[in-house]
Amino acid sequence: MGKFLVSLRHLENWFVLQQRILPWRESPSTYRVWVSEIMLQQTQVITVIPFFERWVERFPTVQDLAHAELEEVLRYWAGLGYYSRARNLHRGAQKIVELGRLPQTRAEWLEVPGVGQYTAGAILSIAGHQPEAILDGNVERVLSRVRRVSRQKGDVEYKSRLWRLSRVFVETAHRHGIDPSHLNQSLMELGATICTPKKPKCSVCPLVHLCRGYEKKDADSFPPKKKPKVWVHLEEKVYAWVNDQGEVLLSVQPRGKWRAGLWDLPTEGPFPPLKKAALLGKIETQYVVTRHKVKRLTEVWGVQQQVKKKTWAVAESGFDTQSVRWISPGKIEVPVGAPTKKILIKIKELIS
Ligand code: ADE
Repeated sequence: MGKFLVSLRHLENWFVLQQRILPWRESPSTYRVWVSEIMLQQTQVITVIPFFERWVERFPTVQDLAHAELEEVLRYWAGLGYYSRARNLHRGAQKIVELGRLPQTRAEWLEVPGVGQYTAGAILSIAGHQPEAILDGNVERVLSRVRRVSRQKGDVEYKSRLWRLSRVFVETAHRHGIDPSHLNQSLMELGATICTPKKPKCSVCPLVHLCRGYEKKDADSFPPKKKPKVWVHLEEKVYAWVNDQGEVLLSVQPRGKWRAGLWDLPTEGPFPPLKKAALLGKIETQYVVTRHKVKRLTEVWGVQQQVKKKTWAVAESGFDTQSVRWISPGKIEVPVGAPTKKILIKIKELIS
């Protein structure tokens, strides 16, 4: 235990002295840590920083977030991708306000939408200083190298070994007076800055004396490779109906759909009282979401108002005025996803 504990103290000292200055590390309240961990789930630190700063300025407390409109919440998220994270934060805030207090344990945090084992452990340790384990990509890399953990016995055994190791690290540290907040963040920080996927900087690593990967000179062959992802290829066709003011018709995705609450180009139309005038061009784009590679064909059409058809009723179109809107591609005032924003920019170029 002697060498192990010395290394943990080394690790904590290294973190205290060398940590990056990040906005969520200033006054790390439970709310701020929760928001930052959700933002960091699929997004790099450098991207998250400005979004986090704008978010906590607009929604400084869980109450502010709970009472905001979903549309505004999504607007503050726009550009980060994986919008279910924003919807989950919003619903989670409402649940917490209803409950009247913040969750206190791992089991209670797991009831909050979007919070899994990693996020629960991160919030409880970083903000609550509780000896709770974490395991994300960075921590997996550090721990698998330190103990040369391979996948020989299958994925479940591999992951549970790493979770056990993570618990041993944080619980041992805690018993010897090391703050679980420091310990867990030091593992994340080590993975992000020293114990990197390629060319780990072992010569300056505070865990070098503990590391079996370093000892055997094969640290960079851990973590063991996963089976390659099987991509699902999809194709979709959408329409950009452009009016004579250069505005494009967007519709909002209904609740329960993929990308609910986000505005997008419609897959149908033109809707009365519009009629097709001229095909202005076709735009082909691609985007990736989870395990889908989607090829999107956008047909750009100029449209005219059919002024004679006075009897047209909003309801008949299947689209009410709440769910469709004319948007100027240069001034997007509704939350749109990154793939759609890209197309709107191309449309602007095409029609200008
Ligand atoms: N990645 C995930 N959580 C993080 C945190 N709190 N600080 C830096 N990088 C992280």
